[in-house]
Amino acid sequence: MKNGKLVVAQIGCGKFAECQDLPNISSLEEVALKWICDLDLERAKEMQKKFGAEKVTSDYKEICADPEVDLIKIATSHEIHLPVIECAAAAGKHIFCEKPMAMHDEEAWRIMKAVKKHGVKLCVDLNRRMSPALQALKKSVAAHLADPKHSPWRYIETLREPLPEEEYKHMIIRIQDESSSYGLQHVDPLIGGGEIIGESVHWLDVACWFFAPAVPVEITAWGSSRLSHGINLKFSNGDDMTLTFSCSGTFDYPKELFEVTAGNAFFRSEFFVENNTYGVPGAKSEYFPMKHYEGNIKEEGFNAYIAKYNERFNGDCGNAKEMENAKPFEVDKGHLNMWKAFIDAILNDKPSPCDELAGFQSTYLAQLAIRSIESRQTLPVPVERFFPAIFIR
Ligand SMILES: NC(=O)c1ccc[n+]([C@@H]2O[C@H](COP(=O)([O-])OP(=O)(O)OC[C@H]3O[C@@H](n4cnc5c(N)ncnc54)[C@H](O)[C@@H]3O)[C@@H](O)[C@H]2O)c1
Repeated sequence: MKNGKLVVAQIGCGKFAECQDLPNISSLEEVALKWICDLDLERAKEMQKKFGAEKVTSDYKEICADPEVDLIKIATSHEIHLPVIECAAAAGKHIFCEKPMAMHDEEAWRIMKAVKKHGVKLCVDLNRRMSPALQALKKSVAAHLADPKHSPWRYIETLREPLPEEEYKHMIIRIQDESSSYGLQHVDPLIGGGEIIGESVHWLDVACWFFAPAVPVEITAWGSSRLSHGINLKFSNGDDMTLTFSCSGTFDYPKELFEVTAGNAFFRSEFFVENNTYGVPGAKSEYFPMKHYEGNIKEEGFNAYIAKYNERFNGDCGNAKEMENAKPFEVDKGHLNMWKAFIDAILNDKPSPCDELAGFQSTYLAQLAIRSIESRQTLPVPVERFFPAIFIR
């Protein structure tokens, strides 16, 4: 701590750091940015100039050796997480790591060991669980199931008990992505690991968080293990999540849609800006404001999002992603909430909002999904693998 603030270092200063981490750090009163680190020192200096860090380096070990640093944020490519985390944990630093926590389960075990051995806190940025829209979706489903209400005109059979399947909840997550705009590092087996490890960990985590305390018991995946794919994840109480991830879509239309059926009702969350409920009398639409919007459209919600997007991008030329990084224009996917919750966990010794076990479990499920695709098999999720025993020497 310095002057009552947590001292933070950013390791990896690519596109994500520029549009999320560094603006978020700058907005938080409880932290002070001391270091910026990137293998590309010129890039690190550019970000230092833009966000005002005290020091720059291209060697993360220099940061681990600085006794003043309390918290390290990692937003590098994926393959370097393990050595950076081992180094940071041994130096007693708390760690906020971008998803995926690891490339595979063995790396994830080693990360869990390092964190436990050195008694530091770790948070994985599986941020969707912290988005206001998905938190509201989860609350709406729980509130309905606790006190179900149906329109009087509905025919609901009251003379029989529900069949077991009628009690199950089903979640569908639709992702339409545009992989042609990505660099090949995302699908390089040694750096990115492909879209299941790199991206679908988000939605595997959302399902585990949404259906907890039920735990996944079975996984079936199909398609390509590096790009377009589908995953069905079944839970111990009969609930399930089905994900369809298509890489051949367009950034002109929102990427993520979440739908849940539960208790004879339907709940829909569209790209973090609008939630709607059907089959529950009196249920109202909920709207979630965009961050950093500076235009003239006052409305919120999905149609307003499309209008705001078109207002911004139609009039401009150039690469949309670069513009987004230069001046973020975005829905609230929970990144800042994750920062706030993790800082609170460090300052007040509370559990991490998304700890190393969640990081391990999402990595492990992603790895099982890849195995399921490659073997054309449905696979069990053994409880003893999902909750590993960590022995510290
Ligand atoms: N949570 C989310 O919603 C979300 C969204 C986008 C990206 N991400 C994650 O953020 C991370 C970075 O993504 P990006 O799009 O910014 O990638 P990027 O390629 O633009 O940036 C990565 C940066 O890390 C640097 N780097 C690599 N190895 C390093 C090392 N050993 N030391 C210091 N710097 C190193 C690279 O030079 C590069 O500048 C990835 O893990 C990605 O999965 C998360």
